[in-house]
Order: sequence, then C-alpha cells, then structure tokens
Amino acid sequence: MTDFPLAPGSTLGILGGGQLGRMLALAAARLGLDCVVLTPDPDSPASRVVKQTFVAPYDDPAALAAFAAACDVVTYEFENVPAQCVDALIALGALVAPGPQALSAAQDRVAEKTFLNGAGAATVAFASIDHWEAIGPAAQGLGYPALLKTRREGYDGKGQIWIEKSGDEAEAFAAIGSRPAILEARADFVRELSVIAARGRDGEIAIYPLGENHHENGVLRRTTAPAPADQATLEQAERIAAQIMAGLDYVGVMGVELFQLADGQLLVNEIAPRVHNSGHWTQDGCAVDQFEQHVRAVAGWPLGSTAVMARVEMLNLLGDEVEAWPRLAADPDSRLHLYGKRETVAGRKMGHVNRMRGPV
Ligand SMILES: Nc1ncnc2c1ncn2[C@@H]1O[C@H](COP(=O)(O)OP(=O)(O)O)[C@@H](O)[C@H]1O
Ligand SMILES: [Mg+2]
Repeated sequence: MTDFPLAPGSTLGILGGGQLGRMLALAAARLGLDCVVLTPDPDSPASRVVKQTFVAPYDDPAALAAFAAACDVVTYEFENVPAQCVDALIALGALVAPGPQALSAAQDRVAEKTFLNGAGAATVAFASIDHWEAIGPAAQGLGYPALLKTRREGYDGKGQIWIEKSGDEAEAFAAIGSRPAILEARADFVRELSVIAARGRDGEIAIYPLGENHHENGVLRRTTAPAPADQATLEQAERIAAQIMAGLDYVGVMGVELFQLADGQLLVNEIAPRVHNSGHWTQDGCAVDQFEQHVRAVAGWPLGSTAVMARVEMLNLLGDEVEAWPRLAADPDSRLHLYGKRETVAGRKMGHVNRMRGPV
C-alpha cells in the first residue's frame, strides 16, 4: 500500500519525456522527490533532469513492468499515451493519476464534448463524423464555416480544417487523413481564456486566475495573466473547472481551454488532463506554480497557494526564436525557460519566456 502523502525520497513516474515532463521533474526535485521517465525518445528534454529514463515504446511489457516497479505513483505529461499503457500499469499495481477516466475523456474529442455537456459545461454544438458524406448534412445543421477535426491525436491545431461551403467535404476529409472526426460549429468568441485548476486526493480544489490566450496557426503564441475579468466570469470559470474535475474524480492539474462569447458565456473548447502551456505564467507569477501543484496533487500533498504575485506575459519561443536567448537572458524583466531540445525545428516549442509586467 502506498501511503499518502508520499514522503520526500519517493519516486514519481512520468509517462512522456517532453518539456512538460522536464518542468514537472524540476518541481518534484524541489520537493525532494525523485522522478523516472518512460519515453521512446532516447534523448528527451525530461531525461536529462531525472534519475532514470526507461527508453521504450509505451506498450513494451518489460519496460512497463520495470517502470511500474520503480514508481510510487505514476503521472503523464501528454494525453496521448495509449490507454493500454495506463491499463497495463494499473494491472501491474501502479497508482496512476490522473486516472484512466480523465485520459479517455481527453483523448477523443467526441467523448470529451459528450462528457463535458453531461457535466454541465457547455461546448459548441458538434457532430460525430465517420465518413465524408456525413459532413454535408451535419454542416447544414451547424452552419458554415464549421471546423472538422480528427477525433484523436490532434495538437497545436494539427488535424483540423475549416469546411467553408458545401462541396468541400471529400477533400477536407482526405486532408485530415480520412480518420474518424468531429465537426464543430464555429465558436464566435471574443477571446480565448484558460483556467488551470487542481484537485487533490482528498477532493480539495485550487484554481488559478484566468489566462488570456492568443494562438497563431493553431499554436499558442502568448498568454497574459491574470486576464482582466469580472467576478461573474471568474465564478463561471471556477464552477466549470470544479464540475469537470468532480465528474472525473480527478487528481492532478488540469488545463481547461475556454471560449468567451460576446454575452460573457464561457464555452469549453477542450480539456488537458495535465499541466498546460497556458499555465506556464504561474512559474513566475504565482506562489506555487502549476508544476509543483501537479506534483503535490498526485503525491497526496496539500495543494499549494495559487496567490498571484505578479502580472505576467508568457511568450512561447517557437523554432529559431530561441536563438534570442542571450538577449532574453540579459533582460531583467524576463524569466527564461529553455527545454534543452537538441534540434530546432520551425514552429517547434523550444522554450518560453515569462515577461514580468509588474505587481498585481
Ligand atoms: N469550434 C471552434 N471555433 C472557432 N475556433 C476554434 C474552434 N475549435 C478550435 N478553434 C481554434 O483553434 C485552436 C486549436 O483548436 P483545439 O481544439 O484547441 O486543438 P488543439 O488540440 O490542437 O489545441 C483553438 O485554440 C481556437 O483558436
Ligand atoms: Mg487546444
């Protein structure tokens, strides 16, 4: 039996070796916890800051057994780990948080929106699409333009295409790989917000103030936080986050992406059952950041304070923008976070900078 709270010296397992895993491991280290990572990448960003990396495919039985044996608790840093991987770890006796319920809700956009609506969180209207011929009738109902997205494995705007008019269906379906899809009504939003929230093993919740997000080509470019918002909006966001987490019996940090409509209503775009890019501002803006908060939650510790210490603008460093690091490092108002990726690829998230915008 695992005793919670996990004592310092215990081991947190992380599925995935990207920058989120790296920043989780750094936060865990501060609390005296060790981390091990399972990733197929032999030279991942997380692997260079953890005790041990198991380099193997996520479905490798021997690696899963060794990984499970090394961990007191297991979490993940991206939501596309195969469900079978988590099931196998649970069968091996591992404690996985957030649980498989959250993972399956987040992996499939149709299941996600169905769950959200059932939990009382409104979304855009949508239709499940299995064949291109279903797109036309669905778009008639949802209105043009409508957004066609793959049900699974989309990220950073990949696997999405707008259906502008009748006649575009076959080509659009082929363009997203002729895979099971969702067709979404266009959200006529005035701004995109997100709320980063956490739920502990005892059901305690902690919610950060809203971030306002600006995307370019489907990729997050910058977040400003705390976003100006009236009390009703804050309460609406908190209620939504709390209902979603309660509905999933959630343990950990969750990112909830929101569309704010002109009348103030918040629609949920999607949920991420993990720390989230739009929560990176908390590293330099809040008493306890989202990474430490996630570690605290899964380790059964009390949740930390979400108090805001400073206003922050978080900018992602995409591709060769990272080459500005000497200038950013010299700027007294910038806090630089680099991911240690070996290869600079156009559009790839290489790091981020938190620009300090003064006291709250
Ligand atoms: N139904 C929609 N209406 C309008 N814009 C949308 C809609 N869905 C997504 N978007 C835009 O595309 C971005 C990426 O879509 P999202 O569903 O969050 O996919 P990803 O998983 O790639 O982040 C959103 O942040 C938003 O700017
Ligand atoms: Mg998104």
